[in-house]
Amino acid sequence: MKHWRVEQVAWDRFEPSKVDPDIIPLVKAAAMVERNGGDYAIYLNRVFNDDPDFARAADHWAEEEIQHGDALGKWASLADPGWDYAAAFERYRNGYSIDINADASIRGSRTGELIARCIVETGTSSYYTALAEATEEPVLQQVCKLIAADEYRHFKLFYDHMKRYLAREDLSFAKRLRVAFGRVGESEDDELAFAFHCANEDPSMAYDHERCITGYMGRAMGFYRYRHLERGMGMIFKAVGLEPRGRLSQLAARGAWRLLCWRRDRYREAIRRMTPTTPLAQAA
Ligand SMILES: [Fe+2]
Ligand SMILES: [Fe+2]
Repeated sequence: MKHWRVEQVAWDRFEPSKVDPDIIPLVKAAAMVERNGGDYAIYLNRVFNDDPDFARAADHWAEEEIQHGDALGKWASLADPGWDYAAAFERYRNGYSIDINADASIRGSRTGELIARCIVETGTSSYYTALAEATEEPVLQQVCKLIAADEYRHFKLFYDHMKRYLAREDLSFAKRLRVAFGRVGESEDDELAFAFHCANEDPSMAYDHERCITGYMGRAMGFYRYRHLERGMGMIFKAVGLEPRGRLSQLAARGAWRLLCWRRDRYREAIRRMTPTTPLAQAA
């Protein structure tokens, strides 16, 4: 059972005058990645092929992720009526796919796989919370709050299964840490950058990772506040088996905040430097 349905969102409360134009390309890109959740369920089903409880949970999880894509896609279509969600997603599907033909986790163990999933859910939970708090548009606020609540439940789902496998596999702390920080680093890979390209750039334009990750991060990083990183760091600490609200977590959150501010400013500067003929520079 899903916790909510797209039809239950108060779409008629949409207020075009309250839309921040910098949020639209982010919502469009996020819709691509979320809508693609089905492939991860196939992959997870293969990795956990003898664990029917988890396989069922993964299928249910993917249904919710796909719904996130549809809700964000619908909102973006209201904010930009000329945008074609289905066509953009088709482009994304044709150009980006994960390897679903795995018979073991690419993270080296099932515990590692579940820690990586916890990191992804930490990222999405923090991100939609940040967007919900930043936007003044009431429908996007509602959609982001609903999604953020799902993402937090997803974190708990993967965390609980991870604890079960940790008891069996006994993955060392160093390995857990390596998986977690490895997955954090992957946030700037092609998955999001290519989604930004398909959702926002003209099909005649060639994909360029640097331009697209800059377009995405230069906008997305601006919506975070320290409290979002503090909470996210607590979740990462919990996932790797450290005290989520201790001094070390606070220190790490402060370091991550400084790093985010520095990178955000560099990405913003790079957007400003882009030539005025590209859609990115026009929007910035
Ligand atoms: Fe999601
Ligand atoms: Fe999720």
